[in-house]
Amino acid sequence: MSVDLISESQSTEERFLRHIFVRDQMAEWSKQPLVMAKADGVHYWDVNGKRYLDALSGIYVVSVGHNNRRVIDALHRQLNTLCFSPPMHGTNPVAVQLANLLAELAPGDLSAVKFQCGGAEVTEAAIKLARQYHKFTGSPGKYKIVSRYLSWHGSTLGSLSASGLKSRKTVNEPLAPGFLHVFPPTCYRCPFGKEYPSCEITCATLLGDVIEMEDPDTVAAVMVEPIGHTGGIIDPPPEYLAILRKICDRYNVLLIFDEIITGAGRTGHLFAAETFGVVPDVLCTAKGLSGGYAPLSAMMCRAPIADAFWGPISENPGFVEGHTFEGNPISCAAGLAVLREILERDLCGNARRQGEVVRAGFQRLAEKYGVIGDIRGKGLLQGIEFVRDRKTKERFPASPGFGVRVGKRALQNGLLCRFDPHWLAFGPPLVSTAEQIDEMVALLDRSLGEALGKLAVA
Ligand SMILES: Cc1ncc(COP(=O)(O)O)c(C=O)c1O
Repeated sequence: MSVDLISESQSTEERFLRHIFVRDQMAEWSKQPLVMAKADGVHYWDVNGKRYLDALSGIYVVSVGHNNRRVIDALHRQLNTLCFSPPMHGTNPVAVQLANLLAELAPGDLSAVKFQCGGAEVTEAAIKLARQYHKFTGSPGKYKIVSRYLSWHGSTLGSLSASGLKSRKTVNEPLAPGFLHVFPPTCYRCPFGKEYPSCEITCATLLGDVIEMEDPDTVAAVMVEPIGHTGGIIDPPPEYLAILRKICDRYNVLLIFDEIITGAGRTGHLFAAETFGVVPDVLCTAKGLSGGYAPLSAMMCRAPIADAFWGPISENPGFVEGHTFEGNPISCAAGLAVLREILERDLCGNARRQGEVVRAGFQRLAEKYGVIGDIRGKGLLQGIEFVRDRKTKERFPASPGFGVRVGKRALQNGLLCRFDPHWLAFGPPLVSTAEQIDEMVALLDRSLGEALGKLAVA
């Protein structure tokens, strides 16, 4: 068969789709396959020419909008200069520039950067960094990683072992040993049956007890997303991360922030570490960092940790971790151009302002429909939790889940957002205007109304 035979119009036929694995259940997905053909600003067009408003930045990636000329021009220049440098023998000027820019912009003394291409690669690198750091600094028994239920840190075996989502873990078990989980700060459904603030943030203070019970000499790191995503935009109480910070300091345990989603301006500051005023020991970021123009992720660690890997070669072999495409010039050129866009156009400020517009829109919907139990998030990462009964917080049946009904209606109405059985989220490009956000909310309004109408008929 000639490649020419696979024309655009054929790319949605089942016989062609059978040759590709996608993230969805494929037989189900292929009934109404979403195959995007082009994009501009905050819009996508699929291969049938249908337009979608992108209230999700692809998947929290397209921070500076689709078809951003500044980034594309920077990539053209880089393509004409250097596309690949030998990773086993050195690096390239663009990677050094981006590392220095990130060191300057990151909070505190987060200042040494390891570049990779995806989120899982850097969360896994952070786990390895923590274990190697303790080995080099006289605590070789520290290897356990504490993370949270409902979390997502990626699909590689280490990052998956740290993740707390049974729907993605169970099929892959047994996973790596040395990982344990604690409850996340789901205040709307407190796992301890308490209420903020009289709870005294038990979900955070318990971490100290867990480390004690495990034996502090065996615990290497605690890894959390500042705002949990997969549990339904778990926005912690203001004190939460600061308490984790104190506990980690007390036990010589590294605090790792997974900012794969929350980094690059999404929560209204370049990093959620600033939004919450807590500096971790290691910060991982990806997605919006390159805006989707090339695969890029970064793991940043504090200077004293990096120093432990600097000493004479007779004492340590450096940070033993690497992938072929790490710090490649194309990805780093995208990262530099995206950061310039974010800084020069004050897209963090825009994320804060438009985040308020999203929130106000969600609040209007909550007044109109009785099925929105909670609204959570910061900046342009905002979610809603659906309930059948607001007073009792009773949920709709999990399968297919009301959130999925709404999300599928939204797709039909030309709106791309993140949906799950019990929640739905917006994470639009940081360049979005108030008018565009209002249009996104209006499409969600329509989709919610239709999903409820269907429910009433059923
Ligand atoms: C919070 C978080 N961490 C890590 C990852 C893994 O990133 P990737 O899919 O690029 O490996 C994701 C992906 O969605 C994520 O949301």
